[in-house]
Amino acid sequence: MFDGLENGQAMKKVHIKSFGCQMNKLDTALVTASLQKAGFTLSDNVDGSDIVLINTCSVREHAEEKVFSHLGFLRHIKETRPNLIVGIIGCMAQRLGNELLEHEAVDIVCGPNQIPAICELVTEALEKKNKAITVTENIRQASAQNPELEDFESVYDRADKRIPGQAYVRVMRGCDKFCSYCIVPYVRGPEVSRPPEKINEQIKRLAGEGVKQVTLLGQTINSYKYTAGEKAYNLADILAMVSDVDGIEWIKFVTSYPTKKNFDKILQAMANLPKICPYLHLPAQSGSDKILRAMNRKYTSQEYLELLETARDTVPGVATAGDFIVGFPSETQEDFEATVSLVKKARYKNCFVFKYSPRPGTIGDKKLQDNVPQDVKKKRNTELLAVQEKISDELSSQFLGRTVTVLVEGLSKKPHINTETGIDRPQLVGRTAADWIAVFNGPISLAGHFAKVKITQTSPLTLFGELVNEVGR
Ligand code: 5AD
Ligand code: SF4
Repeated sequence: MFDGLENGQAMKKVHIKSFGCQMNKLDTALVTASLQKAGFTLSDNVDGSDIVLINTCSVREHAEEKVFSHLGFLRHIKETRPNLIVGIIGCMAQRLGNELLEHEAVDIVCGPNQIPAICELVTEALEKKNKAITVTENIRQASAQNPELEDFESVYDRADKRIPGQAYVRVMRGCDKFCSYCIVPYVRGPEVSRPPEKINEQIKRLAGEGVKQVTLLGQTINSYKYTAGEKAYNLADILAMVSDVDGIEWIKFVTSYPTKKNFDKILQAMANLPKICPYLHLPAQSGSDKILRAMNRKYTSQEYLELLETARDTVPGVATAGDFIVGFPSETQEDFEATVSLVKKARYKNCFVFKYSPRPGTIGDKKLQDNVPQDVKKKRNTELLAVQEKISDELSSQFLGRTVTVLVEGLSKKPHINTETGIDRPQLVGRTAADWIAVFNGPISLAGHFAKVKITQTSPLTLFGELVNEVGR
């Protein structure tokens, strides 16, 4: 691995902008940590920076458009500051490769599986002013073993400073599911599960630094599978292993693919191990069996609902979240109504709704026509969110008068109803084990600690309350 800046590069300033999912946020944290280790300084704006890196997302066209518009802005800046180095990392780098390198503003293109090379690429670009690209050729055939990437995970050997007391830990990379709409298998490569001992070492180290909650990450985390000698580890084994780490109090994991495989074992872990949080992110994507088949999802709506029922039977009070795509090719009003009906039955805590966006290279894009008009997609999106909002409102109102334990994240970003003012008791935000957001007034010193909050008011996505005391779980 690259281990230091050559003469004269010290104190170069890097600004990193990040788009996309938790995986990307984690990659950004890794890249940031490795650049800092190599002697670069972080900057929170473009103006004072020598290097701008953009960690990109390809999951929908809109995410890519935002990056192109930012690149337009950077091209403009480079007219007066030609020495500014601009690097594109992440999924767009892998998807578009040389096409991105041809953009006037771009100097570096680095795919998500190549990020261990980022310091070298940046240093070379600064020294030689050459354009450089490193993406994984034939990513689906690329070797599952990538020791550089595995080593790189451990650069992140300090708690994420942005959310005190919390850390994200990848347990697997890539995806083998090939849902017909999704770009992920093509840009993140095949599923690779990390060795349990590496995960364990990393989490012990994070616990030693004061981390109380870890969120384990994987695109289809319940597919986790690692064989060492006679033993084959699944996600339930990993949950039990992490539960044994002193100092870690709460363990969450995202995202699960709806399948019976290992589901009971994972639910048993959730029911029996007190540190495993009762929260399940289980995207359904659609409630219509015809659409689910076209999406290459391997379950029917009935099977999906049965999984939710099993979850609720095994873990009473489990909170669930879902993802949906509306306006998938050939989705009729009837198909959409099947989705509405599934959402009503599922009673999620919250769900994320996306308008279908064809992604070049996916089966959906090659074989199916994007034939649902934009205004219909928009209408269905709004309608589904409204259905969910009512359910969220009903579920959140059950918390009225109850006292919940939250892990405090820090200052609330949005000002909500503010019953108290004063700089010593600003409005704070925290999350419960079941991932409900709670807002209350208290001292900022609580960030990174557990607190008890009595709920006095609720809205669909947020609980509001008063601090009861500041310790305990
Ligand atoms: N169009 C719209 N939404 C998509 N998602 C993935 N690919 C697409 C696409 N092409 C959504 C899915 C997934 C979430 C992360 O993004 O709902 O669960
Ligand atoms: Fe994409 Fe499907 Fe894999 Fe999720 S499971 S990352 S939606 S291909």
